[in-house]
Amino acid sequence: MKKISERAALWGLFLEKILESVEESVMVTNGRGEIIFVNKKYRTLFNVSRRNMTGKNWIKNMIPDSSVKEASDIFRSIRKRKMLCKFTLPVILSKEKTKYMTWVSLPLKRKQATAYMFVGKSAKVSAKKGGIEYACARNDMRADYRGIIDALFAASMKCEPGTASHSSRVMIFSVALAKKLKLSKKKIKRLKVAALLHDFGKLAIDDNILLKKGKLTAEEYEQIKNHPYWGAEMVRLIYFLHDIVPIMANHHENYDGTGYPKGKRGGQIPIESKILSVADIYEALITDRPYRKGFSKEEAIAIVKGERGRKLDPKITDIFLKIIKQNKLEKEIF
Ligand SMILES: [Fe+2]
Repeated sequence: MKKISERAALWGLFLEKILESVEESVMVTNGRGEIIFVNKKYRTLFNVSRRNMTGKNWIKNMIPDSSVKEASDIFRSIRKRKMLCKFTLPVILSKEKTKYMTWVSLPLKRKQATAYMFVGKSAKVSAKKGGIEYACARNDMRADYRGIIDALFAASMKCEPGTASHSSRVMIFSVALAKKLKLSKKKIKRLKVAALLHDFGKLAIDDNILLKKGKLTAEEYEQIKNHPYWGAEMVRLIYFLHDIVPIMANHHENYDGTGYPKGKRGGQIPIESKILSVADIYEALITDRPYRKGFSKEEAIAIVKGERGRKLDPKITDIFLKIIKQNKLEKEIF
């Protein structure tokens, strides 16, 4: 494992790489409201460079004088509540131009430090309170949770082509399997998100390794093996995704203890991760890769069967193979 400081620096780069690709305006501030990061979309919209925004207070620099008080009140409340909040405020685009934007803010918690991420889009302004609105809630903002997951998913799609379709299919396989295993609705929902984001940590891996056509060196492979760790660390930041951290962290652990990163076995691995493993392996087998054509269904079934009790949990494998043989899923996917 790398030294702590080195890991922290890498982690920062990883987060930036993802947020840079998010297709909404994103800014990250510290608890005093000083800007730490603004992404490409933000820089284009506000016509600023990253350097001239870093360290500046977002309220003083973005909000027209007439709304500074409301913005300060909102930010104070966001810091106190430490949850997903949504607000609409006017922002200054240039000397002559302001526009209304709706921001979803969420705290990013890492050790003691809390930063605040704001994801913003153009707002349809209501006349109420001069267009200023504010809400913080756990339950009635599902669409915004979904929005953030979608934004992260879209970012991962941009960084590694092919990831999105792979993850969507892994999700369909996983959900079908989870239903057959009679997992609770709550667990299935968690599994859905984990399946979509399971390889998210690959974004932390150097592109030269990730996209390499030839065989990986042992050292390069060691780096690839860190992706469950990075993925789990990323979602750990976002409080409403905490539930999926263990699923992501364990998706490459094997039933017989030969997996990574920890070499956990059998009952030590969460059931959702075991489901994800079967779905992940099968999906990878039947899909064309840059270096090989996809296997036929029969070949893939034979390979998965071979991993029964080795990489894969025997009971879960049996049920999965039953579903596949019944031919129900292919129709949904292809
Ligand atoms: Fe993976």
